[in-house]
Amino acid sequence: DESPGRYKVRDLSLAVAGRHQIRLAEHEMPGLMALRAEYGAAQPLAGARIAGSIHMTVQTAVLIETLTALGADVRWASCNIFSTQDEAAAAVAVGPDGTPAAPTGVPVFAWKGETLAEYWECTEQILAWPGDVRPNMILDDGGDATLLVHRGVEVEAAGAVPSDIAPGEPGYAEEANVVLAVLRRSLAADAGRWTAIAAEIVGVTEETTTGVHRLYQLAEAGQLLFPAINVNDSVTKSKFDNKYGIRHSLPDGLNRATDTLMGGKVALVAGYGDVGKGAAEALRGQGARVVISEVDPICALQAVMDGYEVARVDDVVGAADFVITTTGNRDVVTAVHLAAMKDKAIVGNIGHFDNEIDIAGLAATPGVVRVEIKPQVHEWTFPDGHSVILLSEGRLLNLGNATGHPSFVMSTSFTNQVIAQIELFTRRAEYPTGVHRLPKVLDEKVARLHLAALGVQLTELTKTQAEYLGVDPAGPYKPDHYRY
Ligand code: NAI
Repeated sequence: DESPGRYKVRDLSLAVAGRHQIRLAEHEMPGLMALRAEYGAAQPLAGARIAGSIHMTVQTAVLIETLTALGADVRWASCNIFSTQDEAAAAVAVGPDGTPAAPTGVPVFAWKGETLAEYWECTEQILAWPGDVRPNMILDDGGDATLLVHRGVEVEAAGAVPSDIAPGEPGYAEEANVVLAVLRRSLAADAGRWTAIAAEIVGVTEETTTGVHRLYQLAEAGQLLFPAINVNDSVTKSKFDNKYGIRHSLPDGLNRATDTLMGGKVALVAGYGDVGKGAAEALRGQGARVVISEVDPICALQAVMDGYEVARVDDVVGAADFVITTTGNRDVVTAVHLAAMKDKAIVGNIGHFDNEIDIAGLAATPGVVRVEIKPQVHEWTFPDGHSVILLSEGRLLNLGNATGHPSFVMSTSFTNQVIAQIELFTRRAEYPTGVHRLPKVLDEKVARLHLAALGVQLTELTKTQAEYLGVDPAGPYKPDHYRY
């Protein structure tokens, strides 16, 4: 279903089902609904033109409609080829007041099962506003929209796009060449397009660990073109979404993909950061025997103190029934590891990109055969007859095989996102080019909004207690270096 430049989704008739789910999600997203009540009249995002790239789920639909309720114009794409919920995308495109025959919603460019070329076209679409209009804000998850603008400016400055990287050459990745193709096409059509877009961007708010990592790298290299707010490192984001969200959505993905009992099995989790902690807790909760691998001695010590075995992937990979990567790093599970696994071992990644598990190396293993069990579930059989079950082709399995985190925890993340958009858009002098975090008092505000919804009574400091601790009774309650 397509109308050029307006939207591109799987099927607008799914909008009715999507709208019902959005309505139920609103009930579970008290932070976002509170922001609508607090800021709806003031319209702080009037004039904001937000290019948004986050998994196009039901929860994201509530985020998008909160941004528009606060006055923003929005265009949206998913930040992963498998993570769109088609009914949510349809409902957002149709809009709360539109019909599939006469959609009045937000231009969405997302469907489940995009090719890489389609994925980058969708990312380009959210930055290509009609006529002479350009976006002035980015809301990103993993940094692909931000990357496209930065790469575009780079090639426009050089006046040329580098040639494709051949398979076997250093840096080769199918996706890198797809991006080069987009840039080549856009340079031929308009050699100043990305520079003009970058000049108008007030800033970006970034959702995830991997995207934040990219932003700090750009800033350190002196290449960051506009201010950024690191939403991930709000305490009410990474210590909640990354941990409790994963605790819910990892077993959800494993169950929907394979329905294999976890109890009694050996589960190897690579990485014991926020995501790894949630993953390990979920697997242990199901009765799995969990083994952690870590490179950071602090996280390894935490894992062992929490009662997990800690070992190297090399040493235990042959014993694991489940292998889950959560590192945000590359080459954590290699083709050699995959070949050494137990028969029917279930392998999946929940970190942001698909380079944690070496799928290309697996595909290049002589004699290996791939069979699709169902979409996003593949059995790879080795010449000796044993096989591994690979989920979502190595892309984040909680969104590829299930529907990602539940609404309540996404409300904590997305309340930070909306506050960050308001901060950047309305208080520009406070946020020069560089990577910033939200002030702690706003982090505490996000928590407060969600506590109230759970009926929790917070204890209030007396004046004497507050003076004794040297804090304001209204917060913030902790110094910035406190780690929670
Ligand atoms: P983190 O930095 O807290 O944790 C990653 C951990 O992996 C670190 O402790 C690090 O020492 C460890 N690590 C790095 N290389 C390793 C290796 N070779 N072997 C073993 N351990 C290794 O990051 P966080 O917040 O846990 O995020 C991890 C990834 O998950 C990121 O890519 C992030 O963007 C993504 N993410 C995915 C979500 C989802 O819904 N699927 C939700 C939130 C984050």
